Amino acid sequence: MTAHLFSPITLGNLEIPNRIAVAPMCQYSADDGSATDWHLQHWMNLAMSGAGMITVEMTDVERRGRISHGCMGLYSDANEAAARRALDAARRVATPGAKFGVQLAHAGRKASNHRPWEGSGPLKPEEDAWPVISCSPLAYADGWQVPHALTEEEIEQTIGHFVDAAKRAERAGFDFIELHSAHGYLLHQFLSPLSNHRTDRWGGSLENRMRFPIEVARRVAEAVPNLMVGARMSLTDWVDGGFTLEEAIAVANAYRKAGIAYICCSSGGNSPHQSLRTGPGYQVHLAEALKQATGIPVRAVGMIDQPAQADAIVRDGRADMVALGRALLADPRWPWRAAAALGHPFHAAPQLARSAGLMKQWGSAA
Ligand SMILES: Cc1cc2nc3c(=O)[nH]c(=O)nc-3n(C[C@H](O)[C@H](O)[C@H](O)COP(=O)(O)O)c2cc1C
Repeated sequence: MTAHLFSPITLGNLEIPNRIAVAPMCQYSADDGSATDWHLQHWMNLAMSGAGMITVEMTDVERRGRISHGCMGLYSDANEAAARRALDAARRVATPGAKFGVQLAHAGRKASNHRPWEGSGPLKPEEDAWPVISCSPLAYADGWQVPHALTEEEIEQTIGHFVDAAKRAERAGFDFIELHSAHGYLLHQFLSPLSNHRTDRWGGSLENRMRFPIEVARRVAEAVPNLMVGARMSLTDWVDGGFTLEEAIAVANAYRKAGIAYICCSSGGNSPHQSLRTGPGYQVHLAEALKQATGIPVRAVGMIDQPAQADAIVRDGRADMVALGRALLADPRWPWRAAAALGHPFHAAPQLARSAGLMKQWGSAA
C-alpha cells in the first residue's frame, strides 16, 4: 500500500520528508519571550516524532504582542540565543530530514491575557497587564481592553518588528517561518471587517484591509530569502458580516504573490460570537476550497487524528499536508504509529528502536 502521508513535498525551496506537520502550539512557558527547559524537552521530543514539519508555537515579534506573560518571543538577543539553544538540541536528535519553523505573530488586541490554566480573559492591572494595540479601538469582547489604534508610523514600526524577528529566526537556525494571520491575532484583526473599522488606506475595502498582512509577508520574504515563508489563515470568522472564504481566497492569492509558499487553513478566533460545529476534520473543506480556487499548497488542520483519515485527506487531494495539534501532544510518536498502521517503514532513534515491534502491533490493531 502506498501511504500518501509519507511522500515528500517541496514547499518553496524546502523539501519536507512527509506530509505530517506539528501544528503550532503555545506552551505558555517562556521567560520574557525566551525558550526554557520546557521548550528544550518539548522540541527534542517533537523532533523525534517522525513529523516532517515542526512548527514552533506562536512567537511574538514584540513584547507587547505576547498573549500572556509565558509566550515565546523573538524580540531580544536573549530570545534569539534561547531559541538557538533549544533548536540546536532538537536537531541533534531529529528524524532525518525534519524541518523546523517558527510561527511569527503579534496578538494585538488579544494580548495581555492569562495563561489558559490560570483562567481565561485579560490580565488585571495588578497582574502586570500592559496596554494593547490593534488597527481600530475595538475590544475583542466585553471586559477586554480597548486597544490603541496604530498610527501610520506605528504600522510601519510593527512591520519592522516582523522583519527583525524573521532575521532573528534565521540566525537562530529555523528552516521556515509561518506568519500567524489567523485566530483573531493582529494580522487577522486587520483582515476582518469585524475588527478593522479604519477609513484610511489600511481599512475599508478588502484591498485596504489586506494591505498590512500582505506588506508584512512581502517584507519578511524579502528579508529572509533563504527561508521558506508560509502563513496560517482563518478562512472564515464564522460570523455574519465577518471575514469570508471568498475574501480569504483573494488574500491567499495576494499572499502567494508576496512570497508565501503555503497556507495552513484554520478558522475563527476573531469574535466571541462565532458559530461553528466542530468534529473530525471540520476544517478540511476550507483547505480543499482554497486549494481548488488558488492552487496554493495547503495544510489542513483540526481534529485530524486517525492515520487512515490523514492519509485519505492527502490521497484524495483535499490538502497537500495535514497538521496535528492535540494528537501530537497526546502521543508524540503518532507518526510512527501512523506509518505502522499504513504499512510504511519509519525511523526510530536507535535508543528507541526496540519499541518498533510494539508500534507495529498497535498499528495493525488500529
Ligand atoms: C495547547 C494549544 C496551543 C495552541 N497554540 C497555537 C498557536 O500558537 N498558534 C496557532 O496558530 N494555533 C494554536 N493552537 C491551535 C492548533 O494549532 C490547532 O489548529 C488546533 O488545536 C486544532 O488542531 P487539533 O484538533 O489537531 O488540535 C493551539 C492549540 C492548542 C491545543
